[in-house]
Amino acid sequence: MSAPLSADTETFAPPAPPRPGSLSDLATYRRLHAESLANPDKFWPEQIAEFHWFKQPDHAFTGKGPEARWFPGGRANLAFNALDRHILAGRGDTLALIWESEAVAADRQPREVRRYTYTQLRDEVVRLASALSALGVQSGDRVTIYLPIVPELPIAMLACAWLGAAHNVVFAGFPSQALLDRIEDSGSHVVITADGGWRNGKVVPLKPILDEALNRTALVRHVVVLRHTGSPIELRAGRDHLWSELVASGDPAHPPAQVPSGHPSFLMYTSGSTGKPKGIAHGTAGYLVHTGLTARHAFDLHPGDVVWCTADPAWITGHTYTVYGPLLAGATTVIYEGILSSPDWDRAWDIIARHRPQVLYTTPTLVRAWIRHGETGLRQRDLSSLRLLASVGEPIGPSVWRWFREVVGAGRTPVVDTWWQTEAGAAMIFPFPYATPAKPGSASLPFFGVQPALVGADGREVVGAGSGQLVIKSPWPGMLLGIWNNPQRYRATYWETIPGFFLTGDTARRDADGYFWVLGRADDVIKVNGHRLGTAEIEGAIVAHASVAESAVVGVPDEQVGEAVLAFVVLKSGYEADDTTRAAIVREIETQVGKLARPREIRFLESLPKNRSGKILRRLLREYAITGKVSGDVSTLDDSTALPPAAPSA
Ligand code: WTA
Repeated sequence: MSAPLSADTETFAPPAPPRPGSLSDLATYRRLHAESLANPDKFWPEQIAEFHWFKQPDHAFTGKGPEARWFPGGRANLAFNALDRHILAGRGDTLALIWESEAVAADRQPREVRRYTYTQLRDEVVRLASALSALGVQSGDRVTIYLPIVPELPIAMLACAWLGAAHNVVFAGFPSQALLDRIEDSGSHVVITADGGWRNGKVVPLKPILDEALNRTALVRHVVVLRHTGSPIELRAGRDHLWSELVASGDPAHPPAQVPSGHPSFLMYTSGSTGKPKGIAHGTAGYLVHTGLTARHAFDLHPGDVVWCTADPAWITGHTYTVYGPLLAGATTVIYEGILSSPDWDRAWDIIARHRPQVLYTTPTLVRAWIRHGETGLRQRDLSSLRLLASVGEPIGPSVWRWFREVVGAGRTPVVDTWWQTEAGAAMIFPFPYATPAKPGSASLPFFGVQPALVGADGREVVGAGSGQLVIKSPWPGMLLGIWNNPQRYRATYWETIPGFFLTGDTARRDADGYFWVLGRADDVIKVNGHRLGTAEIEGAIVAHASVAESAVVGVPDEQVGEAVLAFVVLKSGYEADDTTRAAIVREIETQVGKLARPREIRFLESLPKNRSGKILRRLLREYAITGKVSGDVSTLDDSTALPPAAPSA
């Protein structure tokens, strides 16, 4: 366990690489990283040579800050790189995708497993692309995808990419309001959906929810409907088309769009500090390169390897490492339809024993759930295929990190803690598994081309060890193009608080070895189950209820979901602070924002603590929620009676 690092925490020496060619010493990593920043035009051409370019780019990047664009002058296609490149290299018969249904038989075997080779997957993708093209979808359009976790979800994403249309995948658990907002903001004329999906043994309707949304907009001209659960649906003639019928006449020779590097490839809506989710827009070539290279460097994925990323493709982790990353690496991605407690918490171990992934990529929330449910089932399964474990989405505490490595990885696997975000496109800070000594709890060091820095309370960059706001100092390959339809909000949110630097919204510490320890969000974003929720979005839904005068939402640490939503509510006079009102408020949140945002607790207060200019003092509320009292400086509080001395239990 020796490592040339300061001994402030336990470090795990990286294991020897199982195959030649992997980066295997820290000095080489440091040299390459320094080169990537000092001389990008020399560094990147060699790195990008493995991808297929219809036209080679002229430079690594041009422009600064929000205007930076990667690989200008180049032309490429994400789906062609994810599919045809491997087929052309003679790997058409390699498995690209293995999917299993949530439903299992009495022997715990899934009722349905589907496998696609690269050739088969490509055929499905191009047929759908051709059918979408016949419906009028063109390069530059946006297509909203509202599908359960079935093979057709990546197929639909890739078909859009084939045409140069940006996909906008909306989580299948979102209510019609959230879906409508995303269809309208993205300007989608075409939506791809299913009759419904399976979740926890029940059918979740999707087409009926889409119908509700479509009753309130005339924007959508065509809907493609996949038959999956067989539940009853209505099809509107002329607008709604069955997937199976469209694809039957699709042309498998439909050519791929040769899009410029900076062409939008997808939108992903995510929460920020205001009430309205923002459409994070990503380009093509930078995302392709960052995703493809991190799939190899962070997860050691080579053609034919099997990887299971537990993330739903409706979130950025799933976009990048359930769909694009594995396919760009020529690997096999395992996709699971349902929730991991179905039929019980041993489901994950069944999936690993059945499909034998070398790599498991998941979230601390899931690891904590596995810890809580005991090791018996895990020990009865053969998990020996696992070679590498990885984590994302929240800080992973050292004890959870160690359990993951010792118990799931049998003490042999590296654990790769990856820090990144929707805006980043792909992993930004992570240990190279065979080169970087790992410190449990630290995402460690930046990837090539990534230059993180810390800015202190005085607005100055922190040099050496210290802590502050985490910023990114120079353009990186997977960086977002911007916020869809809102360049002004893009600049104001990310680039103007600390001029010239990209503001991540996180706080972090850097130790004497240059390792980053991400501490959490500095803004009003709560991470529930690893999903981003904006407090303002939830507050907006709460005050929409007739009984509510005011509300403030905070995130509090929670053993199960990482952070839980806690809502403080001030009622209008005449309304009772009782369970009926609570239930009505919860319903309002679920209809507008979704079940993800359901609060763990709603507490009624007579008033909210505010300063003299009327700003809600969230710091106090959070502290009060956690400890039942407030300490520190309360001199700015306008009404010292706002918080009763002891927290009432709800
Ligand atoms: C948090 C998910 C600590 C962080 C890919 C970030 C993490 C937000 C880590 C982005 C990590 C992600 N350690 N915190 N390894 N990874 N985060 O957009 O607060 O859903 O800003 O992207 O998750 O969440 P998002």
